[in-house]
Formats: sequence, structure tokens, C-alpha cells
Amino acid sequence: MSAAGNGFTPSIVVFACNWCSYAGADTAGISRIQYSPHIRVIRVMCSGRINPEFVLHAFAQGADGVAVTGCHFGDCHYLFGNHRQVDLFERTKALVRTLGLEDDRVDLEWISAAEGVRYGQYMDAFVKQIQDLGMSPIRAALELERAAEAETPAPETPAVAEVSS
Ligand code: FES
Repeated sequence: MSAAGNGFTPSIVVFACNWCSYAGADTAGISRIQYSPHIRVIRVMCSGRINPEFVLHAFAQGADGVAVTGCHFGDCHYLFGNHRQVDLFERTKALVRTLGLEDDRVDLEWISAAEGVRYGQYMDAFVKQIQDLGMSPIRAALELERAAEAETPAPETPAVAEVSS
């Protein structure tokens, strides 16, 4: 994958509900709609299942941005899952701020199964937003740590002792 935007390749996690936004991704694919390759989609059954911990875990693993997506109001297959997500998302944003990250690194969007074009447009816009923010400071710290580990020589393997009979 090539570097993009302001010199880094963003790593973006998208949580998508099985019935609407994930199906919207399928529609985008079937319709051969081009959009940013810098996203990794995680399918869940309903946006109401996406707890703040999921989002925080994604950031802790080095995500630069996280989008939570689901069905439009009135379309949730579990009736109120997306309404529940509205409340959860407020908590998610507060926790993301506690981590010292910008609010704009998380987003909540409703996308239906029929909205393949909109799915692609939304992903492009969100990726651009994250590119403008730059690399997450958590990811930057993780990358420094990995680089330091790579430079540290591996401990020598002890020689196998010969056993005399
Ligand atoms: S099933 Fe899509 S938001 Fe609930």
C-alpha cells in the first residue's frame, strides 16, 4: 500500500452492521465503486453491539481513525440498536478525548444496503479527514516501540550441550 495524504498510510477501522452498512459495502463492491483502500471493515450484527471498548481497542492497536456505521433510524433489524449506538457513541467520544485523541478521529454514520455509492463517498471523506489529522499519537508511539525492538539484537541462543554416554 502506498503512502498517502500528508506522508503516511492511514490505518482506519470501520465497524459495520451486518444488515445495512456491511451490505452497503457489498453493494459498493458489486457496483465496482472505487474508494480508499485504507480501511479495514469489522462486521458486527448491529451498531448497538459496538461498545466504546471496541473503538478504544482499535486505537490502542494503532488505528488512526475509527468509524461506526449502521442502519438508518427505522431500519435497525433489532429495532433500537442504532438508537442505543447514539448513546454509546457519546461515551465513546468522551473516552477518546480522555485518551488525548481528537474527536474527529471517530465518526458515526448510517448507510443502507442500497447506498453503495454513498458508502464509497463516505469512506473517501473519512479517510481524507484522518489524513488531514495525521498519524494517531498512539500509533506513532507503537511504531517507535516496534522500531526500537527491531534494532535490539536478539538474545543469543544457548548452545546445545553434548551429552556423553
Ligand atoms: S441492525 Fe443495523 S444498526 Fe441495528
